Order: sequence, then structure tokens, then C-alpha cells
Amino acid sequence: MSSQIDHLLNESRRFAPPEEFAASAIATAELYDRAKADREGFWAEQARELLHWHKPFTEVLDWSNPPFAKWFADGELNVAYNCLDRHVEAGNGDRVALLWEGEPGDERRVTYAELTDEVKRLANVLTGLGVGQGDRVAIYMPAIPEAIAAMLAVVRIGAVHSVVFGGFSADSLRARLDDAAAKVVITADGGYRKGKVSPLKPAVDLALADRNGSGPQETVENVIVVRRGGNDIDWVEGRDIWWHDVVSQAPAEHEARPFPAENPLFILYTSGTTGKPKGILHTTGGYLTQSAFTNKVVHDVHPEDDVFWCTADIGWVTGHSYVTYGPLANGATQVLYEGTPDTPHPGRWWEIVEKYGVTILYTAPTAIRSFMKIGRKVPKRFDLSSLRLLGSVGEPINPEAWMWYRKIIGGKAAPIVDTWWQTETGAIMISALPGVTETKPGAAQVALPGVSVDVVDEDGTHVGNGNGGLLVITEPWPSMLRGIWGDPDRFVETYWKKFEKQGFYFAGDGARLDDDGEVWLMGRVDDVMNVSGHRLSTTEIESALVANEAVAEAAVVGASDETTGQAVVAFVIIKESYLAEHAPEGLANTLRLWVGEQIGPIARPRDVYIVGELPKTRSGKIMRRLLRDVAEGREVGDTTTLADTAVMSVISAQLK
Ligand code: PRX
Repeated sequence: MSSQIDHLLNESRRFAPPEEFAASAIATAELYDRAKADREGFWAEQARELLHWHKPFTEVLDWSNPPFAKWFADGELNVAYNCLDRHVEAGNGDRVALLWEGEPGDERRVTYAELTDEVKRLANVLTGLGVGQGDRVAIYMPAIPEAIAAMLAVVRIGAVHSVVFGGFSADSLRARLDDAAAKVVITADGGYRKGKVSPLKPAVDLALADRNGSGPQETVENVIVVRRGGNDIDWVEGRDIWWHDVVSQAPAEHEARPFPAENPLFILYTSGTTGKPKGILHTTGGYLTQSAFTNKVVHDVHPEDDVFWCTADIGWVTGHSYVTYGPLANGATQVLYEGTPDTPHPGRWWEIVEKYGVTILYTAPTAIRSFMKIGRKVPKRFDLSSLRLLGSVGEPINPEAWMWYRKIIGGKAAPIVDTWWQTETGAIMISALPGVTETKPGAAQVALPGVSVDVVDEDGTHVGNGNGGLLVITEPWPSMLRGIWGDPDRFVETYWKKFEKQGFYFAGDGARLDDDGEVWLMGRVDDVMNVSGHRLSTTEIESALVANEAVAEAAVVGASDETTGQAVVAFVIIKESYLAEHAPEGLANTLRLWVGEQIGPIARPRDVYIVGELPKTRSGKIMRRLLRDVAEGREVGDTTTLADTAVMSVISAQLK
């Protein structure tokens, strides 16, 4: 890590904003001055300019009970109205909202008027099923237009969605349905992935069933199913409903009623440092303000001209803020692609860019690195000249990948914005402003106007330029999480306790300030891994491993990986009783697949090492740092605090 940091800090390439881009850029340097002069006034101005308020707010921020913030609390709005109806009313109903491309090559263009119509009907269906303000609806769907319609219909009636990534297992889904006490699940029979139909409804059936002594799931009353994959599915009469049956027959009229700005909008589960995922809670007014604002000034979206493409799945926060809410609130036209980047050929993404004339591409470093591996020949076969801005999100982007992105995808002309944020922050917090900021390969750079961050030491003291420390957010921001669903203590403990005295939000990331005082992200400092831009908890995977009958103990680390940023590496001790009756051959692979079944394929370890012992401190804590050294092929660091100092040489010898 430290050689990587030194390498990063020697990065001296700078790219001035291209003149042509700067001439029409939405962001201006003046935004920083305005925000600095009056931060709350600045956000109030954005909220008023970007959104329609059924009832205007008079209060901006209520921080009287930190860390529980209220933004625009006496204002009222309807999120779906802001994303849909008002664009139709303004005469833009014929504008395409979604340029949808299915993986098999089918396509649909969905206008704002059509999306509004679908959402109104589905809102009526949900109301008919008894869903009301504050009720939770889970969404477990492929990237099809109905997924976005589902999110918007839920929030239109003041209910709360919990989107669960379609790659999560039935068990992971069950845990999320239980925690949120969801009333309805919206799903599809299946969706296309890697050239095949990947089933979804069967996982919902399993999640709701009485299995492994769990008892049947108790809160879900109905399952609405979109027909997409055409795969055979089971049907529970009275519980399951076909989307196409009910939506087409539902009344087309639906009035978007206003709700208070602090009405919950969604819960999104993310991995933390314990085995139990946290339900991050966001509310409406502040969240929509900051997601729309950042989509406008960071992605520079000009709704009349641009074709925006954020490649994230709606199961992650990036898909919430920059597929559904930000772009639709701004009335943008965007691409939505169902499948994987290499199906049916490795140039599929670039073919899509050419086909739809994508102007702004927002994606993750892992994707860029895997394209780099395949080679420039593939993108070079396509006309990418429409691209005028590139974005990166989810994990640090190494300067080499940044330069490749710029040269091969951006034709050396498009600025790159490296955007740092989290599920918890709701929207982008640190990024260059395109057309304004001189960019640096590998750095997230500067806090956005209206956002205050710092890099501090363990005591909360500013580290100064040229130094590393912990990234904190020093002032409340509109799209900040409002809590962890059902667990206010964990919310305080996880994010606010460490710098309680200063009132800082601790992001869990290490960072450095360069000589200009700009921010370089250095990865997580806790037991959270970042694999392909997805957050995974070491503890959660360890729990899955020890749930296998063969495993006595497990330790999981995130080891650096050329393509995925980090990769899951597991060290397991097998029970002697198991080995007495079974041959150990193939066990490592069986355990890899087991984790995939328990949590989802994204959590499947890259490597499983079977070892005789694990390095522990005298108090019994596993020293993951040492395992990381082994997994990354480094000299093992300081072992003096180990209870048994020989254990690391034994492990290293076993793996050779
Ligand atoms: O470690 C940081 C990393 O991703 C974490 C947040 O993960 P998640 O909540 O899943 O949201 C991902 C998409 C916003 C952060 O704590 N991260 C995110 N963006 C960057 C990043 N690390 C470095 N550079 C980034 N641009």
C-alpha cells in the first residue's frame, strides 16, 4: 500500500479544462464562492431552483439534534412528480427518458409521458393492495424500465422502497425483507445476464418460504411479477400478481400528493463491519436536491442535448441517484442496459455508445480496467466521438486506468471526473467540476460547493498538505443518510462516535491531501472490502463460511487485485471431524461456491486457502493485516502482538 501511495503522490500530470467544454459547462467557479458565503442559503437556492415544491419550505437545516438532521423540513413535495409529471406538464412528454437496450438486443424507447403513465397506473395498483405512506416495498429486478417505474410508483404514494440487487441470494433477500418488514415485493420472472435468463422470481419464492427452520416470511402480502425472462415460475394464487394484468387495467389517473421533505424515500442495505447489513435510510427533499444538483454540475447534463449513461445497476446507490433520481429530476435522456458488458461480444458497451450517441459515460474503475485488459482494439472498432465527459465512481481509479480511459475512450478530449461518495452520503461529495477544475489522474480532488470535508488524524486534527489520515465530513449536507433503519444507536456508533467532540461524520476511508490540499482516496480503513466497486463485509463472508458444516474457523481479507480493485481471499480451518470422514480435495472450490449461494456471486472468494491456524492476538482478535500481507504475496509485517508468533510462518509455508 505504501509504495502505491508514494507512486500516487508522484503523479504530476494535470489537464486543464478543454476550452470548448468550459464554454458551455453548467458548473462555474462562482458556485464555490456562493456556497462559501452562505452554505445553507446555497442549498436552499438549489432546492428551489431544481425542484417543484407543492409547499415551499421556510426552514433550511435543523441541526438541533445532531446527528439527526432535517433539511427543508416544513416543505412538501412529491418525488415522482418532480421526476415525471412536471416534465410532461412543461411540454416535454415526448422527450425520451429511457433508451433501453435488453441484453439479447431488444430495445424500447420510453418517453416521459409513457413513464408517467406507467407509474400512475402502478401507483393505483399499489394503493389498491393497501400500500400507503411509510410502508416498505422491496424491488428485486433486472435493469428494465419497469424497475425504474416501480421505484417511482412506490415513492409517488409516499411509501419507501428497498431495492435489493438481483445478484443477491434468496437468503440475503430474506434478511432484507425481514429487516424492513416489506409488505410487497416487485420482481420479474427473470432477466438476461451473460446470454441466459437469470431467474429472479424463484429466489423470491425461496425467500418467502419456510426453510432451514426460519418459518415463512411474515410481512410480505403480495408479489408483483413482470414478465421478462419467459422462464417457468411457480405461482402462489392470491399472493402473486402479473404486472401486465394489473397495470394495464388500473386507472390512468393518479394525483401526486405532496409529502413532507423528511418523509422516508428509500432504504438501501449496505455492508458494514458486522455480519448484518445496515439499512441506510434516505429521505426526499434533501436527497433529491443534491442528486439533481450533482447530476447537473458534475455530470454537466444538458437535458435537451445529452444522452447520459450511468452503467450502475439500480440495486446500488449509484443506480438510485444517477439512474433514477438525479437524471429524471433533471429531465434527462439516458441509456439503460440490461446485461453484462461482454455479451454477446466484448465491445457491447462501445456499440451502445455508438448506437445511441452517448455523450456522458459514468462507470466504475473495475470496468475500465477489464476493458484495458482486453485491449484498445475492441473500443477502437466503434465511433466514440459523441462522448464529451467521462465519470468514475465506486473505488479509487489508478492513474494508469485514468489515462487509458482518457485516451482510448475519451479521445483525449473529454474531461474525467472521479467522484467520491457513499451509499450513506446519497450523492457525490468530492469531485472535480468539469469545465472548471484542472484534473489530476487518480485524485477525487475537491469537495463540491456546499460540502465540507477534511483529512484528520486519530484525534480529529487536520493533517495538513502532503499528509494522510482519515476522511471526514465536517458539516451536514442535504442528501446525508438520516439513519440506519430500526437502529439509531448503530447509526451514531458507526459514523459519529469516533469524532463526537468535533461533530464530524467519519466515512471509513483513508485519504491524503496533496500539496494543493486536494484529496486522494486510499481505500477503506475498516473491515469493509471494495470489490469491483461493491461493498462487502469481511465479517459477513466469514459468517457464511462458518455456516458450512466443514468449517471450524474463517478469516476473510480484501487483497488488492489488478482488475477488481480488491478481491475476497478467505483463510479457513476445517473441522477435524469433517476431515475424518471426507477427502479434502475440491473443498476450497466447494466453499467458494457456497459463499456465492449464501450471499450472492459477488461475494464469492477469489481464493480460499485451507490452513491449520489463524493469526490471533492474545485477546483472540484475528489479525487480518497479516493475512493481507500473505494474500498479496508480501513480506509479513510486525507479528509481535500475536499470541503465537510462529503461526504466520506456518501459514506462509502452507501456501507456498
Ligand atoms: O471506499 C469508498 C469507495 O466506495 C465506498 C462507498 O461504497 P458504496 O456505499 O457502495 O458506494 C459506492 C458508490 C458511491 C467509499 O467509502 N469509493 C466510492 N467512490 C470512490 C471510492 N473510493 C475512491 N474513489 C472514489 N471515487
